[in-house]
Amino acid sequence: MPSDPSLSTKVNQNPYNLQFPQHSPPTMSPPSPTAMLLVSMLSLSSFLTIAHGGSFYQDCMVTWGDGRGKIINDQLLTLSMDKYSGSGFESKNEYLYGKIEMQIKFVPGNSAGTVTTFFLRSQGPAHDELDFEFLGNVSGQPYIVHTNVFTQGKGDREQQFYLWFDPTKDFHTYSITWNPQHVIFAVDGIPLRDFKNLESRGVPFPKNQAMKVYSSLWNADDWATMGGLVKTDWTQAPFTASFRNFNADACIWSWGTSRCSSGKSKAPASAKEAWWTDELSPMRYRRMRWVQRKYMIYDYCADRKRFPRPPPECRRR
Ligand SMILES: *[C@@H]1O[C@H](CO)[C@@H](O)[C@H](O)[C@H]1NC(C)=O
Repeated sequence: MPSDPSLSTKVNQNPYNLQFPQHSPPTMSPPSPTAMLLVSMLSLSSFLTIAHGGSFYQDCMVTWGDGRGKIINDQLLTLSMDKYSGSGFESKNEYLYGKIEMQIKFVPGNSAGTVTTFFLRSQGPAHDELDFEFLGNVSGQPYIVHTNVFTQGKGDREQQFYLWFDPTKDFHTYSITWNPQHVIFAVDGIPLRDFKNLESRGVPFPKNQAMKVYSSLWNADDWATMGGLVKTDWTQAPFTASFRNFNADACIWSWGTSRCSSGKSKAPASAKEAWWTDELSPMRYRRMRWVQRKYMIYDYCADRKRFPRPPPECRRR
């Protein structure tokens, strides 16, 4: 269990004057037609049933950054950023439901202005997107974990947290579990956020669009740290973040079908796929509420300035 109570804060109306990304994180910058072509060729060649485990060589590719992103071995990848560019990688496959995990060690020291991302996103205009973004800070100050959920092109569902440990010292596990009823964001298995399927209340849920996994390290000192007041200190460059043990227990989407089970059903055949039916047990729910009470620093659901009427998914019942 998280134990450091010193970071404990109260959620209220954007007390830190937090800024939000005005746009989604970059998946590729600058756009590279060659990489695009390669991606589509590679995704055509994959029609496995269900992905288990993961390897950077097999499952991911560095898509931008001109050598700043490096696959070190099957289990380790690094992204770096300097004055001229950041870098990024993405999964070769598109997934429709799954549990996607990554261990990440963030830019240490003065990481102000840097943003490390780990997210899922579908293609096209009314896209779905599940975001983890990690906003760097000046030395010794906490990172912010920024989460957001886009459904059919609409986001504005930010929740932000501090972490209960220093994410630059060691690798920790960041996961997104996406099944037909829930999207659960977790850190070291402890849930931060549970976006439920509330189609019954008219809230669109991501369920038809397959998504790729993306990660990047980029400069966003126009908004990332203390609302853009703190700029990136380029004397510290290059900045590096490390990624380990990419793992996708997920249904792979290809040729217009989800190859999850042998039949027509979208559900995985094996009952062992616990993520397919994952929901928060009363105990994990209590843990999540505990994290939210102690470490959540922004909640769109509580922001009456932006939303005089809370969005429908924010109502408890
Ligand atoms: C950085 O640290 C300061 C001071 O503790 C805090 O106010 C701020 O929210 C932190 N994070 C970012 C991303 O600015």
